[in-house]
Amino acid sequence: MTEERLMDKIIDVSLRRGFISPTAEIYGGAGGFYDYGPLGTLMRQKIIDLWRQSFVLDEDKVFEITGSLLLPEPVFQASGHLDSFSDPLVQCDKCKSMFRADELIEQITKQKAEGLTLEALDKLIQDNSINCPSCKGELSKARQFNLMFGTEIGSTGGMKGYLRPETAQNIFINFKRLAGFMRNKLPFGIAQVGHSFRNEISPRNFILRVRQFEQMEIEMFYDPEKENEHPRFDEVAEIEINLVTREMQEKGWEEPLRVTVEGAIVEGLIPNQYLAYYLAMETEMLKAMGIPETEFWFRHMQDHEAPHYSAGNFDLEVNLSLGHMEIIGNALRTDYDLQKHAKASNTSFEIADEGRKIVPHVAEPSMGVDRILYTILEKCYREDDRGWVWFQFPAAIAPLEVAVFPLMKKDGLAELAYDIHDELKDAGYLSFYDVSGKIGKRYARADEIGIPFCVTIDYETKEELTVTIRDRDSMQQIRIPIEDLEVVLGELMDGEAEFSEFEDYLIKS
Ligand code: ATP
Ligand code: GLY
Repeated sequence: MTEERLMDKIIDVSLRRGFISPTAEIYGGAGGFYDYGPLGTLMRQKIIDLWRQSFVLDEDKVFEITGSLLLPEPVFQASGHLDSFSDPLVQCDKCKSMFRADELIEQITKQKAEGLTLEALDKLIQDNSINCPSCKGELSKARQFNLMFGTEIGSTGGMKGYLRPETAQNIFINFKRLAGFMRNKLPFGIAQVGHSFRNEISPRNFILRVRQFEQMEIEMFYDPEKENEHPRFDEVAEIEINLVTREMQEKGWEEPLRVTVEGAIVEGLIPNQYLAYYLAMETEMLKAMGIPETEFWFRHMQDHEAPHYSAGNFDLEVNLSLGHMEIIGNALRTDYDLQKHAKASNTSFEIADEGRKIVPHVAEPSMGVDRILYTILEKCYREDDRGWVWFQFPAAIAPLEVAVFPLMKKDGLAELAYDIHDELKDAGYLSFYDVSGKIGKRYARADEIGIPFCVTIDYETKEELTVTIRDRDSMQQIRIPIEDLEVVLGELMDGEAEFSEFEDYLIKS
């Protein structure tokens, strides 16, 4: 399977089956904007739910807020985004196409170019004789292009504002009130899910580089003198992660290092427990989403690659068909943002603790819903000899969890099936009722959108009060009493039971 083809195949299913489509498609689209259809929306919600459960609700001192998408200019003046949130741009002198200089160089030379100075980028373009990929024209010198979307606020345009390029800034500018809510006791975390906007120079690769995307972020505030006293670190200390250290990158690496997060701290490979805690949690979350651990690692970014506010980034990168891609950024933001906003707004962000005045430090896991969703689509995509493509989504992430089919519309089977579907919905399952077409076709359609289980209602249902459950992965079927349906489905979905354990109920074909 060639690299482009896998993404193309996923785009094809996405368009046909209501996952994702280009924004304003009937007008030719708008570069870097996508709409999520019914199934895409359900899946996004599941990604957010899984994150929210383990990163927010299961925690004692993490709360979520909902901030404004549009923020006034002083916020970004203080945060450094006005000056520093830019990418290097080159333009073709002939056809006027624009390219992100570092990405263009990386594509052509296969060497890392992120974070290099404009002069260094110009030199690489010259040394490697790089021309416009569209028309072979000469490229201009690189210049910085600010990625924020600006606008005027109010009818008289009195105030300049920007769509936020990250959700984090709402949290920093609300810090004083939030700290009050948390009774001014460290550590505590503030989470936020929502859209961010970046006027990417070359949006591309479907939903991987878009201009509007959704982030799930947490700013975890802690006392820097207690950076190795995370209250729940013991619970994750033994979790193994895949790590690519700076040293490994300098020497050239093939396999990431396998190390427990505690071991990584002891070896000085990860700076503190607050960051390490999140690397362990992310590993567990991605596995639960159906992304095999062999396919991702944390890369300690080189200094020049890290964002302007970061004293160290451990980005979670995945191995995708088109190359490696960051899907989660983990940053040690220190007290950078709080200090900047405190100074610019003349507000004190100090917290008193046993006679000390502390401006907290921040560990930040920043996850992109869109990139995670694409990764799940790619890693769960299957082609085998069953004659149709399908997604092997874990139930926890599947947009629909169960499909209910009457074998025939007649003889009361449709009504009976609909009642069962209704009861499953009442019990909290994402159930889908489908009555049209041959049963084999309905199974194929369900597989194609990754529904883990199909329940079929047939004549024996009426006579013996039993239903069949078809397992998407093995395509085997069992017959069980209707009264056991909810419990059995629940066990199968939670992973408490395997389909193969129901051998006695197997329907032999
Ligand atoms: P890249 O280097 O690929 O542009 P980044 O380093 O700018 O990414 P971050 O600023 O760390 O990304 O953003 C945190 C997360 O937000 C990313 O890991 C990613 O999942 C998501 N994200 C950032 N930019 C985009 C984008 N243009 N499209 C989709 N998701 C994005
Ligand atoms: N909040 C981190 C980022 O979006 O870059």
